[in-house]
This record gives sequence, C-alpha cells and structure tokens, in this order.
Amino acid sequence: MKKKIINMTLDGKRLEAEEGTTILHAAREYGVHIPTICYLESLSPYGACRICVVEIGRGNGNTSLDTSCTREVQEGMEVQTQSSRVVRARKMIAELQVASAPNVKVAQDIAARVGLMKVRFPMDDNRCILCGLCIRMCYEQMDGKALGFAGRGTGRWVTMPFQERPETCRLCRGCDYVCPGTIIPCQGVKEPGELCGRCRPVEEYRCCPNSTFGCFCEKNPL
Ligand code: SF4
Ligand code: SF4
Ligand code: FES
Repeated sequence: MKKKIINMTLDGKRLEAEEGTTILHAAREYGVHIPTICYLESLSPYGACRICVVEIGRGNGNTSLDTSCTREVQEGMEVQTQSSRVVRARKMIAELQVASAPNVKVAQDIAARVGLMKVRFPMDDNRCILCGLCIRMCYEQMDGKALGFAGRGTGRWVTMPFQERPETCRLCRGCDYVCPGTIIPCQGVKEPGELCGRCRPVEEYRCCPNSTFGCFCEKNPL
C-alpha cells in the first residue's frame, strides 16, 4: 500500500516525507546532516545518546526538543536542526559524553564537530558510552541474545547473562565491530619503514572495562 505523504519544513525549507519516516531519515534524504552516535541504519533506533536532537514546532510558536532518530515526521511539523537551542543542547550532550569517555574516539569527534572548546566536568575514563549498539547488533542481526544492560544510572553497564558467555554467542564479533568504545586509537608508526604491530595483538587488550566482550580477550581468545 502506498504510504501517505507528509508535508513539513526542515530548516525553513518545505519537504515531503513518507508517513512513518523518522526526522533523521527525512533529513538524510534531503542531504541535511544531523550528528548521531547510537544510531545505525541497519538497527532499530534506540534514542540513547540524544546528540541527534532537533527543535520541533507545530506552527503555534511553541517548540520542543526531541531526538530525530526516534521521532516520526508529522503533517505541518517545523523542524530546526541548527537553531541556537539545538546547538546549545548538542554542546551540553557532547560535553557530558566526552567527560565520561574522553578516550572514545566518537566522543572526541562529536565534541569537535559541535565546536566544544572546553570541558567543565570532571573527566572519567569510561570506554562504554552506553550506546546499546552491541546489544541491538547481537539481538537483531546476529540472533545471539547474549548481551544486555545491567545496573542503573551511572552504574549501568553492558554484560552477558550472569557474566558468562552463553551458548547462543557464536563469537561472531558483531558486537565488537559496531562498538565505538573498543577501538584502540591508532598511534601510527614513529619511524619511516617501522611496523608498529599494534593491530596484531588486539585480542590481548581488555577491550571493554567490564570485560563485556571477554569472549575475545585472554579468557577465550579466538
Ligand atoms: S559475538 Fe556473541 S555477543 Fe557478540 S554479537 Fe556475536 S553472538 Fe552476540
Ligand atoms: S559496549 Fe560499546 S557498543 Fe556496547 S553500549 Fe558500550 S560503547 Fe556501545
Ligand atoms: S543518534 Fe539519536 S539518540 Fe543517539
């Protein structure tokens, strides 16, 4: 069945989008960039990082902020992707993210992209940014059902059931592949002709703080 066409505006320009489309998807269809962290096209949207925030109006002067990866388009919607309110919100989200996980490349990248110059909060050294990509990858693409969140608030973490690798985990490394937190920053070589070798022993690294992906570490090397 043909889907209904929604008329809306994005940054003041009129556009048409199919009913059921998210704002993020509609924006991408028209070449408008909205930053994302916890979104991957092939996985269901989760709305965890909130960096994809946009300002939404309904034509009555009132506006609200919402995540563009989870919010569907609606008739008459007026979306701003770069308003001063959006820029402020994104900077705050990026600042909290980079303070929590300064060694995670995606956190640094987003901070740079939103123009963050200074972090006012105490720095932590988390590797997991709680994006949930590994869990969705495992459930939705790999049929592993081997990962989930445990704990609450700042004590939230990703783990396997009872911290044991279940039989349903086939060591496919799908979780590892999508995780922005386990990437070991490339230092490059120091001398011409030198081989740094950092990539080779990757399984020797404890790639996540809680050994979530312990199945790839020294416990159960591939
Ligand atoms: S390696 Fe195991 S935990 Fe990771 S995605 Fe594959 S099945 Fe899931
Ligand atoms: S372990 Fe990696 S993919 Fe999973 S929630 Fe943390 S940062 Fe995201
Ligand atoms: S990309 Fe939308 S909430 Fe993370």
